[in-house]
Amino acid sequence: MTDSPPADAPTAESAQATRPYSPGLEGVIAGETSLSFVDGDRGRLTYRGYRIGDLVERGTYPAIANLLWTGDWAPDHRIATAPIPDAVLTVLRALPAETKPMDALRTAVSAWGATQDLPWPPTVEQARALLAFSPSALAAFARLRAGEPPVEPDPSLDLVEGFLYQLNGTRPDPATARALDAYFIVGAEHGFNASTFTSRVVISTRSDIASAVVGAIGTMKGPLHGGAPSEVVDQLSQVGSAEHAEAWVREALARGERLMGFGHRVYRAYDPRAAALRTVAEGMANKPAWLQLAIEVEDVALRVLAEKHPDRPLKTNVEFYAAPVLMGVGLAPDLFPATFSLARHAGWTAHALEQSANNRLIRPDVNYVGPAERDLPA
Ligand code: COA
Repeated sequence: MTDSPPADAPTAESAQATRPYSPGLEGVIAGETSLSFVDGDRGRLTYRGYRIGDLVERGTYPAIANLLWTGDWAPDHRIATAPIPDAVLTVLRALPAETKPMDALRTAVSAWGATQDLPWPPTVEQARALLAFSPSALAAFARLRAGEPPVEPDPSLDLVEGFLYQLNGTRPDPATARALDAYFIVGAEHGFNASTFTSRVVISTRSDIASAVVGAIGTMKGPLHGGAPSEVVDQLSQVGSAEHAEAWVREALARGERLMGFGHRVYRAYDPRAAALRTVAEGMANKPAWLQLAIEVEDVALRVLAEKHPDRPLKTNVEFYAAPVLMGVGLAPDLFPATFSLARHAGWTAHALEQSANNRLIRPDVNYVGPAERDLPA
């Protein structure tokens, strides 16, 4: 005979069922950070207290990465792209040309991790080495799939310029490099988003920083996270010209479609990153032809969305102006998500450092909702 509790006694299952569960962990405080503050109601974003608009105006991506890692503001901080270890190049050469760039980047970081000594806890030096490696790897993959040889890093160029140089084989003009640098700055960090949380979970097990970033890239690959700028490009090309904007927006909404580049889970006000990128896009030397179209579509979209959803503010998000910047820089749309991942390396690695500095294994509970304890069928 088995020892079973009386029918009315609380079981382990019923005791845990009384504890609150929030699907998607929405609203759950799962950590503390001093890296960034996303103030969705007021439409503000700060990195270590500094406003994103000021950082875009006065900083560079390497300076922002250094700020996130160390807390120090050193606007002249430079990081050049790094050479690719031979073993990683061999792996990149072995990938089929039709490999998705996110898969190629994830694979490259994984192979890079295998070539490095990355003891726990992670260090700023490890973070810097990984941040310097990944743009070289993505650029090499983009060239190899086009049948072109990879370009060696030029140590005289700062990270984002170096990435464009290795991608195209020619030095970018300063305004183009500046525009992509601004995109990297606004993409660098954004609180406990899914990929950043992944990075912290991995590092909390005392695993290494390359594994944390591999996990983060895999998480960002999902379409719910990896961003919509290439879909913004699709939608703008469907609109075609400013005079069609109103009709196109109304028809798309009537079909139940979402307007890409609008709405946000956290921001209820205009996304401050979109405002910063719009300014950058407007200052670009070879202004993307359809930046003007984007501005006009935005006006129409905001007006129609406000009409349709008077109680729910739906404003422009970062992806909307990321699209003209990335197109203006000359990136192929299928490289957009992996380029976003390059930018987020700063945040992923900074969170790895922050997590390890005050580590506690991240291991939440789960409510068991399966069958009660029972005997195997005879
Ligand atoms: N276009 C049209 N309608 C939108 C919309 C958009 N971009 N974003 C939200 N809505 C509408 C929804 O249809 C819904 O309407 P309903 O209440 O009549 O059903 C309402 O607004 C609330 O939507 P919900 O999904 O709860 O909003 P959310 O805050 O959870 O969603 C996003 C956030 C980002 C997923 C959503 O705004 C979206 O899909 N945007 C387009 C994709 C995009 O730009 N992604 C990049 C984000 S950085």
